[in-house]
Amino acid sequence: MNQHVIVTGGAGFIGSHLAEALLRNGCRVTVLDNLHTGKEANIPAGAEFINIDLGADNMYSRIRGLKCDAVFHLAGQSSGEASFDDPEYDFKSHALSTFYMLRWCKEHDVSRFLYSSSMSVYGDPDTLPIGEGHPFKPKTFYAAGKVAAEAYINLYGRLGVNTTVFRLFSVYGPGQNLDNKMQGMLSIYLSYMLEGKPILVKGSPARYRDFININDVVAAWLSAYENPVSYGKQYNLATGVKTTVEGLLNELKNAFNSNNYPIEFLQNTPGDQFGAIGDISLIKKDLSWTPTVDLRTGIAVMAKWARALKGDNL
Ligand SMILES: NC(=O)c1ccc[n+]([C@@H]2O[C@H](COP(=O)([O-])OP(=O)(O)OC[C@H]3O[C@@H](n4cnc5c(N)ncnc54)[C@H](O)[C@@H]3O)[C@@H](O)[C@H]2O)c1
Repeated sequence: MNQHVIVTGGAGFIGSHLAEALLRNGCRVTVLDNLHTGKEANIPAGAEFINIDLGADNMYSRIRGLKCDAVFHLAGQSSGEASFDDPEYDFKSHALSTFYMLRWCKEHDVSRFLYSSSMSVYGDPDTLPIGEGHPFKPKTFYAAGKVAAEAYINLYGRLGVNTTVFRLFSVYGPGQNLDNKMQGMLSIYLSYMLEGKPILVKGSPARYRDFININDVVAAWLSAYENPVSYGKQYNLATGVKTTVEGLLNELKNAFNSNNYPIEFLQNTPGDQFGAIGDISLIKKDLSWTPTVDLRTGIAVMAKWARALKGDNL
C-alpha cells in the first residue's frame, strides 16, 4: 500500500487493530485520538500519535498542513448506554468530528474517507435480516450521532470525497476494553467471569445480536480501501448469524467449563435494541469478502487472551 493514512480512534479496540494491519501492509500510520476510552498502550508500535479531540474545532490547528492519502474515521464515544449520560459529548464525538474530519479532508485534498457507523442506526428492525436500505430508526443519542455522521458523509461524497461507510454489528475480539462495562456485550460478560462475579445481564436473554470477529472486520476495511467499487457505498459489516443472549452466555460458560456460572438479569439499558441480524449480500458481492471466524472459535481465542491479561478466578 505504501501510503500515509490517518486512523482516528486508533487508541481504541477496532482502530488499533486496523492501524496495526495497515502498518503490516506497508502504510505509514498516524493515529488521532483523545484517549476518551482508548489507551496510548493500544497504539501499535510504528504508528505516530497525535492527542486531539476531534469534536473540538479549535484543536484542528494541530493537524493543519498534515499530508495523507486516506482517513479511516473510527473515533467516537462507542456506547449506546453511555450516550444517555452525556448526549452532547456524543454529538461532538460523532456528528461534529465527522463533519470536521470531512471538511479537513476537502481542505487537504484527501479524497478517501472510510467510516465506522453502526447497526444501531436501524433501531428495532421491520424486517430481518436487515438490508442497507432499511430505514433509520435510532433509539439512542449514539445512533442519532451515527445517522448525522452518515448524512455528512453522503454530502461530502457529492462534493468529491470517495467515501465508504461500514455499519458495524457487534464486534468482539482480543484488545476489547475489559474495564468498560458499558460497551460490548461479549466483553462485558467475559469481564464479569474473569472477576469471578455473577454476570449482570441488562435485559432479556431472548434478545439477539450478530457477532462479528475483529479479524473479519479488519479484512473488510482493508479490502474496501483501494477498491473503487466501495466508493459512495454503505455496507453492513456482520455475519448474518443470529445469536441470542442466552446462546452467547452458554458459549461463554462452555469456554470456561463452568456450566452453572451465576447470572443475574437486570432492567435493560435505555434505547437497547431487542435484536439485529445483518444482510451481508452486498458486501460479499462488492468486496468478495466473507466472514471467516465462527463465534465459538472467536470466543476461545478471546478468552485465552483475556485470561493471560487479567488472570481469572474460575
Ligand atoms: N465495537 C463495536 O461493536 C462497534 C459497533 C458499531 C460501531 N462501532 C464504532 O466503531 C468505532 C470504534 O469502536 P471501538 O469498539 O473500537 O470503541 P473504542 O471506545 O475502543 O474506540 C473509540 C476510540 O475513539 C476515541 N475517541 C472518542 N471520542 C473522541 C474524540 N472526540 N476525539 C478523538 N478520539 C475520540 C476513544 O478514545 C477511543 O480510542 C466507534 O466509532 C464505534 O462507535 C463499534
